[in-house]
Amino acid sequence: VSEISGGLARLPNEITVDYVDEFVKDSLATGLIFVAEGDGRMLGEIHAYPYGQWRLKHVLSHLTIAVHPEAQGKGVGRMLFDALLGDVRANRPDITRVELITQESNVRGQRLYESVGFRREGKLEQGIRNQQSGLLENDIPMGWLRSRDTTGTR
Ligand SMILES: CC(C)(COP(=O)(O)OP(=O)(O)OC[C@H]1O[C@@H](n2cnc3c(N)ncnc32)[C@H](O)[C@@H]1OP(=O)(O)O)[C@@H](O)C(=O)NCCC(=O)NCCS
Repeated sequence: VSEISGGLARLPNEITVDYVDEFVKDSLATGLIFVAEGDGRMLGEIHAYPYGQWRLKHVLSHLTIAVHPEAQGKGVGRMLFDALLGDVRANRPDITRVELITQESNVRGQRLYESVGFRREGKLEQGIRNQQSGLLENDIPMGWLRSRDTTGTR
C-alpha cells in the first residue's frame, strides 16, 4: 500500500517488522485492531490505540488504515471503520474521541472518514511531505466524538 498510494505516512522501508510488532502489541493491549480477509488473503487492516497518559486515555489515537491496492474501492475500508467504531460504541465506553490525521491530497480517505462521522478540525500547514512530488502539503486532523455520534453502524 505504501509503495503504491502514498496515503500512508511511512515509506515502504519504514514499514519494518519492529514497527508492525509495536503497533499490533499496543493495539491489542489498549486499543483496537481489525483485519479484513478474503479467500485466505489479508485485504486490509485498521488499528488505533491511546497515548499512555491518564489525561489522554479517552482518545483513540495513532489510527492507521490500509487496504490492499487490488481490494480498494470495494467497501473494505468502510467495513473496517464500521468494525472499529462499532466496537468503540458497544464495548469501549472509556473512549469518547477517535482521531486521525490524513494528508490533504487524500481526498478519497477524507470522503470515507466524513461519511463514517469524522469531522475536519483545521489543518497542520505543510505538515507532511508528499511522497510523489516531494513537496510539502497540509495534514488534516479529523475527529470522531461519541457525544455527537448519531449514525450507528451503516
Ligand atoms: C483510503 C482507504 C483506506 C479507503 O479504503 P477503500 O476500501 O478503498 O474504501 P471503500 O471501498 O470502503 O470506500 C469507502 C468510501 O471511500 C470513497 N471512495 C472509495 N473509492 C473511491 C474512489 N475510487 N474515488 C473516490 N472515492 C472513493 C467513497 O466515498 C466510498 O464511499 P461509498 O462506499 O459511499 O462509495 C484505501 O483506499 C487505502 O488503503 N488507501 C491507501 C492508504 C491510505 O490512504 N490510508 C489512510 C491514511 S490516513
